[in-house]
Amino acid sequence: MNDDYESPRISEELGNLSPTMSAERNPLARGYSVEPLTEIDGCKIEDIIERAGSPAFVFSERTLRRKINRMRTAFRSRYPETHFFWSYKTNNLDAICRVLKDEGWGAEIVSNFEYKKARHLGYEGNEILFNGPYKSPSAIRRSFAEGALIQIDNWDDLDRVETAAEEMDGPFDVGIRVWFATGHGPTWSKFGFNLASGEAQRAARRVAQNPNLNLHTLHSHIGTYMLDPEAYRVATKLLLGLRDQVEDDTGHLAACLNLGGGFPSYSLLHGMKGPAETTIAPIEKYADAITSELNRLPSDRRPELRLESGRHLVDESGYLISSVVAVKQGEAAGQPRGTAEDAMRIKERSLLGRYSKVTYVADVGINLLYTAAWFEISVRPARRMDELPEQTRLVGDLCMEIDVIRENVALPRLRVGDRLTLWPVGAYNLGQSMQFIHLRPAVVMIGEDSEMRLIRRREDLNDIEAPEVFGDEPDVGRHG
Ligand SMILES: Cc1ncc(COP(=O)(O)O)c(C=O)c1O
Repeated sequence: MNDDYESPRISEELGNLSPTMSAERNPLARGYSVEPLTEIDGCKIEDIIERAGSPAFVFSERTLRRKINRMRTAFRSRYPETHFFWSYKTNNLDAICRVLKDEGWGAEIVSNFEYKKARHLGYEGNEILFNGPYKSPSAIRRSFAEGALIQIDNWDDLDRVETAAEEMDGPFDVGIRVWFATGHGPTWSKFGFNLASGEAQRAARRVAQNPNLNLHTLHSHIGTYMLDPEAYRVATKLLLGLRDQVEDDTGHLAACLNLGGGFPSYSLLHGMKGPAETTIAPIEKYADAITSELNRLPSDRRPELRLESGRHLVDESGYLISSVVAVKQGEAAGQPRGTAEDAMRIKERSLLGRYSKVTYVADVGINLLYTAAWFEISVRPARRMDELPEQTRLVGDLCMEIDVIRENVALPRLRVGDRLTLWPVGAYNLGQSMQFIHLRPAVVMIGEDSEMRLIRRREDLNDIEAPEVFGDEPDVGRHG
């Protein structure tokens, strides 16, 4: 034994401070203190619930515009010829799309329905990009007639585009979508023409040589929530290489590169170490990766740059407010106090594992939180509580075993009626939500003036029953 050994002591400083202090100093150790969220942009959670009910989605216009401005500056300051398009599928609420339109964003759409929505909001055809694996012949003709740019996904899509262009006496501007592995993250291969096999080059050549078409754009959308900015450097280089090849083959130089979306928000995947602010690369790193490659070109050969971001812009502006409606297994948890009963509980817990955890049932289910399956949505109570948080489970109120919002979430002891705020949930959740067991809740937006406005009312039975028919109605078709 080492005679100089002294048993470790907790410093006086640490001993005097709150038991959560050491965890707070370590940015990787989250969960020991849970800061309450009492208001959003000056509106108290209770006031929001009074107006919209519980649960309710809440969007912060201030946060949305802040993200938009930062992204615009990041790209335009490095590459002035950058144009932005809003990905409708990420969030198609009129109020959200209007903010993007007001900020100068075009519309990126993938279906007839989204096309109609964009036109309804006042977009001209030439402000619309049409993506997706299938566009109906009538949708293609409408796009050509109104000046929307179709980004072709596959050979059958190309056949249909060529037929329409011939019938309508082109030339019409189009783009082609390309896929490849970047070596920096997962590879999406479902969409577009493959680069490595030469397929993309063949498709681009065919478009460039068709007198009814003009190959305007080379497009890629490498995936969503792409964590490594270097993936975009590789994507930019590969698309520029394809552009050169097509020029060598046909003499045609494509005017535009579209690098898609995919920039991450401050969401964390389950098991990822936070905090997100230091784990997720800032948008400027993505802008650097793309524009430094483009800026290497002589200025007269630089393409227009287009981006179709969704998640990065809207996720953090969205909250879902809910209420605790039941507390389960409460008596089996808590801090042991050394009694015989506690000993039994400790044994019970070790045998039951996760089943002995305190479980909170919230009045929202995964029908509203599609992304909870892979993102660790943060949960904060709306009032300050002094006790130490403990590991709990947060489940929804659907009558389904898989309706778990967080399998492990550190929360101080809550009671029925406590309000919780789930964040960030602005991307994809509302669009992918469904009226499974429950109807959808109201949605409010808090304006830059801190005024709360209802932007979507709570659904009622009529919203479900109105489209139901008894078999004697004509079939209006899937894509009508
Ligand atoms: C073609 C296309 N562009 C843009 C986006 C937006 O992606 P994100 O929300 O990751 O920015 C998507 C979404 O998957 C997409 O399919």
